[in-house]
Amino acid sequence: MKLLIASNNQHKIEEIKAVLCGKFDDISTLNDENIDCAPEENGQTFLENALIKARAIAKHTDKVVLADDTGLCVNALGGRPGVHSARYADDHNSTANRRKLLGELENATDRSAYFKTVVVLLYPDGKVVTGEGEVHGRIVEKEQGDNGFGYDSIFYSDELGKTFAEATTTEKLTVSHRSRALRDLFSKL
Ligand code: IMP
Repeated sequence: MKLLIASNNQHKIEEIKAVLCGKFDDISTLNDENIDCAPEENGQTFLENALIKARAIAKHTDKVVLADDTGLCVNALGGRPGVHSARYADDHNSTANRRKLLGELENATDRSAYFKTVVVLLYPDGKVVTGEGEVHGRIVEKEQGDNGFGYDSIFYSDELGKTFAEATTTEKLTVSHRSRALRDLFSKL
């Protein structure tokens, strides 16, 4: 089966490929296929956004499309930024997004939070298989670690005992929202 990962985020692609290892004959990305398509992700849920992405990309390929949508949900903020995580402060500006979140939590005593990912596998005949995963932890007071991307440097994983940006990719994948969502999806195939 030939799979197209509906992303241009190199970190995400590396994580997804590590989990998919050996499960598909051929894995490509939007860059590999020269697909320039970034639909507005204006759904109300992670699933809606993942489907918006997958269906828009599917118009450009005959391959099976894998799309994911992720968000960081902070309990003291009633689950925000959630589905708005990418454009929380400023569109796809992770530095501004992290800074805004740390500012909003300046006086918070409850810093608990979780990442949630929904993944969608969309076949050329329209069939859809989904998976979801979460990882729980808390938002640290200041950035820690240089690895990863997005909110990784301010998310402390309870299971790893460090921030995702202090973890290697392999360590992150043992507990991450994305690897759990992918494993959930593959358990249904
Ligand atoms: P999207 O799923 O690519 O739309 O991501 C939504 C937002 O969450 C973006 O700001 C990403 O940088 C961030 N994000 C997605 N996955 C991760 C992750 O694994 N770690 C940290 N931030 C992430």
